[in-house]
Formats: sequence, C-alpha cells, structure tokens
Amino acid sequence: MKQIALTGLKPSGAPHIGNYLGMLKPSLELAEKFQALYFIPDYHALTTVRDRKQLADLTYQAAATWLALGLNPDEEIIYRQSDIPEVFELAWALSCFTAKGLLNRAHAYKAIVDDNIAAGREADKNINIGLFTYPVLMAADILLFGTHFVPVGLDQQQHLEITRDVALTFNKNYGNVLTIPEAVIRKEVMTIPGTDGRKMSKSYNNVIPIFAPPEQVLKPVKRIVTDSKRPEEPKDPDECNIFAIYQHFAEADAVAAKRQLYLEGGLAYGAMKQELFELLDSAFADKRDRYNALMNNTDELDRILENGAEKARAIAAPIMAKVRKAIGVST
Ligand code: TRP
Repeated sequence: MKQIALTGLKPSGAPHIGNYLGMLKPSLELAEKFQALYFIPDYHALTTVRDRKQLADLTYQAAATWLALGLNPDEEIIYRQSDIPEVFELAWALSCFTAKGLLNRAHAYKAIVDDNIAAGREADKNINIGLFTYPVLMAADILLFGTHFVPVGLDQQQHLEITRDVALTFNKNYGNVLTIPEAVIRKEVMTIPGTDGRKMSKSYNNVIPIFAPPEQVLKPVKRIVTDSKRPEEPKDPDECNIFAIYQHFAEADAVAAKRQLYLEGGLAYGAMKQELFELLDSAFADKRDRYNALMNNTDELDRILENGAEKARAIAAPIMAKVRKAIGVST
C-alpha cells in the first residue's frame, strides 16, 4: 500500500488565498503520490464553537472546500473526525503518555495564558481542558492511521513535534507500535501577505477569499497596500504585496516579464491589481461554482463524508487493535 498523507482542515470558515497556497494546494499535490486522508476536525472546533448549526455549517464548508479544489472522493479519503470514535479512544491512551509540561509550552495555550497574566487575570481564566489537550487529540488524529506525512502550515509545526514526542514515548514503553510521522511544511508559501502586508489571516481582517463572488474578491485586491511610487519609477517586485500573490498564480514567463517591468519602471499598481484579480477569477471561477453547488446539496456531502469515514475506520481498526493489545486492555 502507498504511504499515508493525512491532514485536517479546521472548520473555521470560508478559505482564503493564504490557506490555499499555504496548506490546501500543497496537500492536494501530495495526494497524487500518497494515500491521502484529509479530514475535518470538527471536535477540535468544539473548544471554541458552541452553536450546533454553526459547527455543522462550518464543517460542510470545509468538506466542500476540499472537494471543490479537486479532492477526488473515490481515490482520496475525506471524512469528519467525529465519525471516527477510535480517535477519541486513542486520544485518552496518548494523554497518559503526554507530559503535562509539554502541553504547558504549546503556543496556542501559552498565548492565552500570557494574555491573561498581562491583563492581571488568573493564568487559566477562560481556558477549558479541551483547549489545553488539543494537541493530544491532534496526535490521535495522526497516529491512528499510521500516517507518514502531514502537510501543514508553519503554525502547526509545534503540534507535529508534540505528536512525534508522544508517539516516541508510547513506543519506548510498548515497542514499535506507532508510526512516527513527519511534517511537510512548504516554507516558501508561508509568507503570503494579506491586503495590509501582514501575514494573511482572518484575525487580521486582511484576507482575499477564494470562493466569494467576484466583487468580493475585487474589493480586497483593490485594497492591497503598496508604496506611492508612480508608474514610471523602477520598483522592487520583492517588496510588493501584489506581486507576492501574483507570482503564485501567473505562468513562469509572465512572472519573469512582470519582474522586469517592475525593475525597469512602467508598471502601474492599479493595472497590476486588475491583472491579479483576473488571474484569481479565472483560477477559481469553476471551483467556486462547484463549491456553491456542494453547499446547496448537503445530502451529497453527508454521503461522501460517511463513505470516507467507513474507509478511514477500516484503516484505523487494526492499528487501534494493536494499541489495545500493546497496552493490555480488552481486545
Ligand atoms: N490543528 C490544525 C489546525 O489548526 C487542524 C488539525 C487537527 C490537524 N488535527 C490535525 C492538522 C491533524 C493536521 C493533522 O489547522
């Protein structure tokens, strides 16, 4: 059997260009070489999303995103985390092999603690245990399937290190039971700037969506921050937020020509923005239609996800049996 590539797309709303270039596109490329298991970690979202309709809708959005971008459910395996009860069983077992100090140092948890302390609040104010043990559940997501490769954004690097650490601790006690996974992080696409020049991120309100109607893509593209150089002035393309996005969508020779135009002078930012918009529109128009069609047919999404869960559980079952046997609980 092919080696396994696995990743989770958190149900956190409509995807933007930063998600697409940083994680979705590289993942779909890996799926050509490996057996892909791409899932939606809906129970992870429960650490913050408390509205049942919202959680269900966000989960459909994430599933439709994978499928609209070309994930083929006949070859790749797509499922909801909550359809795989073994994940939660394994999470418990792994939690008994996770040093609490390791989780104390996890970035997401630590950031909230630091905020609390800075504001003079109790360190763990508003932190639930689900948020604290989030990395353990993620380790279970990965280790349950004998995963070899995990394509993720740079922000998930520490979670992968925790996963490996926990798996090694488990194996040290029981022998070679769990496969030690490797993160696949494409550093060159980790610095996609948003419209204000900071990293593109929903929390900065600087995103360019990929499935929104054209006018909602054009608006943020027009807002991309540039310097105030006139068209005839020479410019450094590597300092330009428009070019930073453009170069990932245009053909190589067009990128080279554009680079030349920046350097020599003659490029107007307004025209460059229009060109970027047209490129994005042609890259995503069909995918947007497919996304909308899927979001209007959640029965079809349910069918695909249930089908995927069945295939995923077939891979998980023998691994979970091995884990149970190793530990000495009921088999
Ligand atoms: N923590 C990941 C994120 O925030 C989502 C995730 C959950 C995940 N489980 C995973 C990613 C397993 C890769 C593998 O994006």
